[in-house]
Amino acid sequence: MDKFVINGGAPLKGEVAISGSKNSSLPILAATLLTPERCVIRGVPDLSDTRFMVEIIKHIGAEAEFKDGVVTVEARKIRTIAPYDLVRKMRASVCLLGPLLGRRRKAKVSVPGGCIIGPRPIDIHLKGFRALGADVRIEKGYVIADGKNMAGGTMFLGGRFGSTVLGTANVMMAAAVTKGTTVIESAACEPEVVDLAQFLVKMGAQIHGAGSPTVTIHGVEHLHGAEHTVIPDRIEAGTFMTAAAVTGGHVTLKGARPDHLGAVIDKLLEAGVKVERAGPDMVVRGEGRREPADVITMPYPGFPTDMQAQFMTLMTITPGISVITEKIYPERFMHVAELGRLGANIALEGSSAIVKGMPKLSGAPIMASDLRASAALVLAGLVAHGQTTVNRVYHIDRGYERIDEKLRALGARIERQK
Ligand code: EPZ
Repeated sequence: MDKFVINGGAPLKGEVAISGSKNSSLPILAATLLTPERCVIRGVPDLSDTRFMVEIIKHIGAEAEFKDGVVTVEARKIRTIAPYDLVRKMRASVCLLGPLLGRRRKAKVSVPGGCIIGPRPIDIHLKGFRALGADVRIEKGYVIADGKNMAGGTMFLGGRFGSTVLGTANVMMAAAVTKGTTVIESAACEPEVVDLAQFLVKMGAQIHGAGSPTVTIHGVEHLHGAEHTVIPDRIEAGTFMTAAAVTGGHVTLKGARPDHLGAVIDKLLEAGVKVERAGPDMVVRGEGRREPADVITMPYPGFPTDMQAQFMTLMTITPGISVITEKIYPERFMHVAELGRLGANIALEGSSAIVKGMPKLSGAPIMASDLRASAALVLAGLVAHGQTTVNRVYHIDRGYERIDEKLRALGARIERQK
C-alpha cells in the first residue's frame, strides 16, 4: 500500500489544472449502456473509480476503451447482471440499475454495501423505479428489477437528508427510454445531475428542468450514440482552494467552474481567504487575517458534504471557534480522530464538530479512511510542522488524479512511497 510522506510548511504557489469530475463521469459512463451505438466521453479523470466503472461496463458486455482521458463505449449487447464482487468495491455501481432497466427492462445489481461515511441506503432509488411501474425486490443481497410494465410516472425523491444524487441519475436514465412522461419532484440539483441530463439529451432524450427540484422526462423509443466532455471536478477544485488557504499560499486554478463553487467560495471568503476571478481562472490567496466560519452541509447549492473534512482542516488552524455540522452523512467524521493526532482541538457533539483553532499542527503518522477525509489529512500534513505520513492513500487515488504530483508542482514537499 502506498503512503504519502509530507514535510509541512511550504506555502503552495503556482497554477493547477483541475481534472474532470469523478461524480459526473460515473453516471455518464453508466448511461452509455442505454444505446448500442458508439459513445465518446472526454475529460474523464484517470482514477481507480473511473477505471473500475469502465471494467464493470465491459463485464456487462460493452466494448470499452479508456485512454488519455477519453472513454469510448459501444454497448451493442449487454447482460443485465452486476455481481456483488464488483459492486461492493464501488457503491456508485448502483447507478447501473437505471440503464439496465431502461435498455433491457430488467436488472440484477448487488445491493451496494455501506461505506465508512455511513450506511448508504438505496430505498429512494427503488421508490423511483417502482413509481415507473417496475417490479423491484431485494433477494440474497441483490436488487432484482423487472421493468416489462414500466411507464412514465410521478415521484418524490426527497428523503431525510435531502434528495439523492445517484437516485435522481438512476431514475432519469431509466425514464429517458420509458414511454410516457415522468416527473421527478425533489430531484437532486447537483451540477453532476445537470451534466448527465445534458449527455442524455445529446443521445436524444427529452429532459427538462435538470438542476431544479422538478425534472420532467418525456420517454423516447431509442437513444443514439453521442460525444460529451464532462464538467470539471468541483470537489477537487474546492480541495485545492482550501489547500492554498491552509498553507497561506497563492494558487491559480485552471479549468474550474466558479459557478459550481458558490457555497465553498462564500465560506472561504468568510474565513478571510482571498478568492478572485482572473478571466476564466480563479486565484486563491491564503495570506491575511483569518476568521472562523461555521458550516452546515446541505444538498446543492448548499455547502457540499464532500468539502466538509477539507474545510475542517482549515478551521483547525484558524483562531477562534467554528461549528461544522454534517447534515448529509451525520457520521462523516472519520478525519476528526486523525486530525486530533496532529494536535487539532475538535469536540464532536452529535452531527456537529466544534473546532477550536490552534496556533499550529505538528506532524505525525496518520491513517486515511474515506476519500475526502484522506484529502483533509493531506491538507493538514501540508501545514503541520515536521513530517506527516498518510497511510492507505489508495483512498485518495479513488477520487483525485495524481494529487501528489499536482501538489509537488505547487511547491509542496510530498512524496509517494510504497
Ligand atoms: C453522491 O453520492 C456522491 N457520489 C457522493 O460523493 C456525495 O457525498 C453524495 O452524492 C452527496 O452529495 C457520487 O456521485 C458517485 P445521495 P450518492 O444519494 O448519490 C441518503 C465522494 O466523496 N439516501 O445523494 O450516493 C444517503 O444516505 C462521494 O465523491 C437515502 O436515505 O448520495 C445520504 O445521507 C461520497 N436513501 C443522503 O441521502 C437513498 O435511496 C444523500 O445521498 C439514497 C440516499
